[in-house]
Parts: sequence; C-alpha cells; structure tokens
Amino acid sequence: MTYSVQHAGHVQGHHVFKRVRIRRRGGALYDVLAYCSAMISSPVRRILFIQFLFLFTLHTSTHSMLARSILCRPAVRYGLTSSIPCLRTNCQMSLMSTAPAGKWEKEYDFILAEKKGKVALLTLNRPKALNALCNGIIQDLIDATTAIAADDTVGAIVLTGSTKAFAAGADIKEMKDKSFVQAFSSNMFAEWGHIARVTKPIVAAVNGYALGGGCELMMMADIVIAGENAKFGQPEITLGVIPGCGGTQRLVRAIGKSKAMELVLTGGMIDALQAERDGLVSKVVPAEKTVDVALEMATKIASFSLPVAAAAKETVNAAFELNLAEGLRFERRIFHSLFALQDQKEGMAAFVEKRKPTFTNT
Ligand code: CAA
Repeated sequence: MTYSVQHAGHVQGHHVFKRVRIRRRGGALYDVLAYCSAMISSPVRRILFIQFLFLFTLHTSTHSMLARSILCRPAVRYGLTSSIPCLRTNCQMSLMSTAPAGKWEKEYDFILAEKKGKVALLTLNRPKALNALCNGIIQDLIDATTAIAADDTVGAIVLTGSTKAFAAGADIKEMKDKSFVQAFSSNMFAEWGHIARVTKPIVAAVNGYALGGGCELMMMADIVIAGENAKFGQPEITLGVIPGCGGTQRLVRAIGKSKAMELVLTGGMIDALQAERDGLVSKVVPAEKTVDVALEMATKIASFSLPVAAAAKETVNAAFELNLAEGLRFERRIFHSLFALQDQKEGMAAFVEKRKPTFTNT
C-alpha cells in the first residue's frame, strides 16, 4: 500500500496539499480527501489537517485503532473525509511529496545540503553577508527540510553556518524600507515557523555570531552545540525593532525572564560558556569540532526508530504549549501508542535477549 500526499506548491510560505491518496496493491483506491487551497486560508483548518495527517500516519503505520478513533471525529466533522478506512493489511507506507526521497541533495542558492550517513547536513552559505537570513536562504531551508521529511533514509538534521557566523540575523538590507502594510500583509517571518515544525530532530552546530534571527533560527533546533567562539544575542532593539521570530518567547523559555530581558533590552551578547551556563546550548566544544560533534550526536539519534524520535521530539515540544496535566496526558497517550510499533517490540526484545536492536521504522 502506498500513502501519498500531493504537494501543490507554496502560498506565502505555507504548503498546499491537494489530496491524500491511499492505494492498496491490487485493491481499492481511497481518495481520502480532495484537499484544496481553501484549507490554508484558515489556521484552524491547517492545524486540523496537520493533526489529521499525523494521526492518519500513526494509524496506517501502526494500525492504531486509538489513532483511528481520534482522527475520525474531527476529520469527518470538518469534511476532510466521509470515513477513515480501517487498514489492517500488512502494508508498507511511504510519504511522498513533490520532492522524491534524496532530491534534497542538490544545489541551492544559499545553502549546502549533503548526506552524511543517516544525517542531512545543511550549511547556511552566504558568507559575505555573515549568513544574514534573506528570503532566499529561508526558502532554501524550507525546500530542503520538506524534501528531507520525505526521505526515510534520513533520521536527523544538522544545521550549521560558517566559522565566523551561524547567522547574523534577518537581512537588514532586505527589510529596511518595508512599510507597516507590507510587513503586516505579507505576515513577514511567519514562514520561518516551518523550521520549528520539522518532525525530524535538528541539531544546530553554532560557530561565531548567532544574532537576532540567527539566534531565533537556532532556537528552533532541538539541540545546540556551540563552538567556543560562538556569540549569542538579540540586538534588534539597536535597530529600532524587537525580535520577530520567537526571540521574546523561546528565549524566555530557554533561559528565563531576567536573562532574556537583559539580552532583548540591552541588545548585548553572551559568549558560548555563558550560553551553556544559561541552558541555551547543550555543549561547548572547540570551534573546529562543532560540526563533527553535532554530526556524531545526530548520527546517534538517527540510529533509533524514526517514528519514535519524531514522537519524542513532538512530546518534549508539547511542554512549551500545554499545562502540566495536559502535557502528562499527551505524553502518556503517545507512550501508549508506541506499543503498536514493531520497533517497540524489537527494542524491548533486544534488551531481554542481550543484543543490539534493529529498528525498521515500523
Ligand atoms: N543583514 C544584512 N547584512 C548583514 C547583516 C544583517 N543582519 N549582518 C551582517 N551583514 C553584512 C554587513 O552589512 C557586511 O556587508 P558589506 O560588506 O556589504 O557591508 C557584511 O555582512 C559583514 O558584516 P560586518 O562588516 O558588519 O562584519 P563585522 O565583523 O564588523 O561585524 C556583526 C559583525 C557584529 C555581526 C555585525 O555585522 C552586525 O552587527 N550585524 C547585524 C546584527 C543584527 O543586528 N542582527 C539582527 C537583525 S534583525 C532581526 O534578525 C530581526 C528578527 O527578529 C528576525
């Protein structure tokens, strides 16, 4: 059986999916939904659609009846489909977008993308501008991570910059003449949120400056490895603005109110050791080793079950959104659902049999 998502393009940085199809080998064709561009006009429907895809994937990959029963209600109510087929076949599932697996290893204008074993290494590559995050760089990141999401041979991503700068912020030259109406009506920077929604774990390897949007992009990653020469800050106040990609929100959650306020209100910088003490980064290593250490960590993550790593990432991130009781319930439910995975059976059997597990992402 194949499960395919037809990707119809981007509108203002949002992905537009046309339809989801399930094909059973030699069997019936279910057109689960004729999904249209109207969907993206409503944030509520977009969230529902993403939830729907997640639960549907869970159902088809794990045959989870819980997922099926949860997804049936909103999916039917919102007209995404009239019914969810119960799939209890021995099936192989593949998620396809317009970019086939492996297609992300190509030439981009502003980033380098290469495969290192089971890890995708993405390098911001605009050195003359200290990797200032222009629209093109963000679009390249969105394109690459979208294609990587469809590549089952990749289990984690390392995101890095140059030795002088991870990224010196959003491109000041690109935005300096924008009017309020242009900033507002284009919902400037909203598309950056795509990086925070990537389901595969991202390890940021940071050398040099991570300022403004660079620090905010870094905080969208899951783990940060910093080189000794790294410097972090939110200098937007020196430009007459405030952080616009999560600096006032994610920084507070990462290092607490007083330290975040200090960075946001003074526009000052902290060095790598201070960032480690504050909990903004996991580790500080010699600058020349930053990428290697990040790759090593990402390789370890990629050796585990892909759906379990994605579930772990989503569940930890839920801690930022939910209160404790809701968060614990969400964690428990996701934990329960993993018992429908072959990888749970394999992982626990391997422990009991004193051998290494072989995860199959099923
Ligand atoms: N946007 C556009 N260009 C930038 C840039 C940015 N954020 N940061 C650096 N550059 C460019 C410089 O203009 C310069 O280009 P030219 O050679 O064409 O003049 C080149 O990169 C090298 O920069 P410097 O000569 O300034 O290098 P330096 O070593 O003397 O200083 C620096 C390094 C301290 C990082 C300094 O470049 C700097 O302060 N950059 C701006 C940092 C900043 O304010 N970032 C926040 C941006 S706003 C934002 O990010 C909003 C948001 O929330 C998303």
